[in-house]
Amino acid sequence: MTVSVTLQPQEAMAALVTREGRRDPHPLYDALRAHGGLVPVRPGLMVAAGYAECSRALREPGLLVQDARSHDTLHPDWRSHSSLRGFTNSVLYTNPPDHSRMRRLMSGAFTPRTVAGLERTIARMADRLLDRMAELGTGGTPVDFMAEFAYRLPVAVIGTMLGVPDDDHIWFRAAVEHVTVALEGSSRASGLAAADRAMDELTAYFTGLIDQRRRRPADDLISALVQTHDRDGERFTEDELIGNLVLLLAAGFDTTTHLLGHGLHLAFEHPGAAARLREDPEFAAGYVEETLRIAPPVHATSRFAGTDVDLLGTRVPAGTKVLVLLAAGNRDPRRFPEPHSFDPSRPDIQPLSFGAGAHFCLGAPLARAEARIALPRLFGRFPGLAPAGAPTHRDRLVVPGHDRLPVTIGRPDARSPVRPAACAVREAPRSAAHRPPGHVSACPAK
Ligand code: HEM
Repeated sequence: MTVSVTLQPQEAMAALVTREGRRDPHPLYDALRAHGGLVPVRPGLMVAAGYAECSRALREPGLLVQDARSHDTLHPDWRSHSSLRGFTNSVLYTNPPDHSRMRRLMSGAFTPRTVAGLERTIARMADRLLDRMAELGTGGTPVDFMAEFAYRLPVAVIGTMLGVPDDDHIWFRAAVEHVTVALEGSSRASGLAAADRAMDELTAYFTGLIDQRRRRPADDLISALVQTHDRDGERFTEDELIGNLVLLLAAGFDTTTHLLGHGLHLAFEHPGAAARLREDPEFAAGYVEETLRIAPPVHATSRFAGTDVDLLGTRVPAGTKVLVLLAAGNRDPRRFPEPHSFDPSRPDIQPLSFGAGAHFCLGAPLARAEARIALPRLFGRFPGLAPAGAPTHRDRLVVPGHDRLPVTIGRPDARSPVRPAACAVREAPRSAAHRPPGHVSACPAK
């Protein structure tokens, strides 16, 4: 996209919400940042496009996430949408004291220590999926990396943590694809009907599972959260329980799927980095951080000013919405020399991709571990991995990414012989409280 450097903030914002703008937003982010790190767009709307401004906005206690109170002002009909109601019961859309209460209850499941304990399981799941890719890709048949690996690994990991049956993993993909439209901001009202249906489906599904775990607890996150709720219901309401389970499921794989997709795509563009990933597992941590910086799965979030706020010397009047462009902050030349170049050996990357402050991503250690473990295994197993045709892209502003990323696997590495695939995709009977018709079952990556 060719963008004039003199583009006014309103023009850049208008271009950003077009299909072309969503497909290639970086020139528009640059144009916005050229007006300063914190840019007034119109009365009631400012955009944080610099690294320091994004970071500060997310840590500023006077800037709140959109919650029931702000929805009442900004989108008076929000309660008629079950998707907005559902997420508004979760940590993502609550402020203190509710946020701090819920976050404490959930955070134990995602500490670096807990995640370190999952690393062998993640590696085993990744290897099973690579077995499956090897089988599907025999004889040079193209394999869709997004469907066969990038989606399946994170859904298997979060599914196992939550304790949802393997056979349900595949229909989650469509349900989450629809429900996450509600996280894009309610401007795209057309998508909200499908988001509402998906939220209703997921709510019925988790209500059934909660009921099962109440009767027969298991060693999983749903049982742990149900027990916390039942012990002290005042600390965790039933609606909050369901809202947070849907959030964990959606946040648990929608984003990580695209991190894996971007990680592969960048490796195709930088074959030297791919070779290093194969040969030097230590290289993976920097590679993942730089992938997160240059191609963050989540491009933006927002806050609104509960009171007048001073943000790095600029006044943000009470009631103003601040759009925090994480993807723009990650390419701020004041913070990163040559910000548009992919350089995994950059020192001190610290991308904004998981947010910052009170709402810093709960799953960051998990997502990082999944990518750090999976990408070297992928390139180690398939040294001849290559693109097979053009990828297709998701038309989203907040969580863009690849819909399909077809690859050929080449000759698998002789040192890690192809094992038989773990299972075949097949139609499966309904296993849990609720499942829509016509789905196919997941290949258990376990
Ligand atoms: C690469 C993958 C991921 C990215 C880029 C990502 C990004 C983000 C961002 C930017 C936020 C902050 C939003 C805000 O401040 O408004 C966030 C919050 C959150 N993320 Fe992630 N996320 C990822 C993976 C995960 C995973 C794997 C999980 C759970 C299993 C998860 C669970 C959450 C939760 C629960 C919150 C809300 C925290 C709060 O509001 O206190 N995320 N994530």
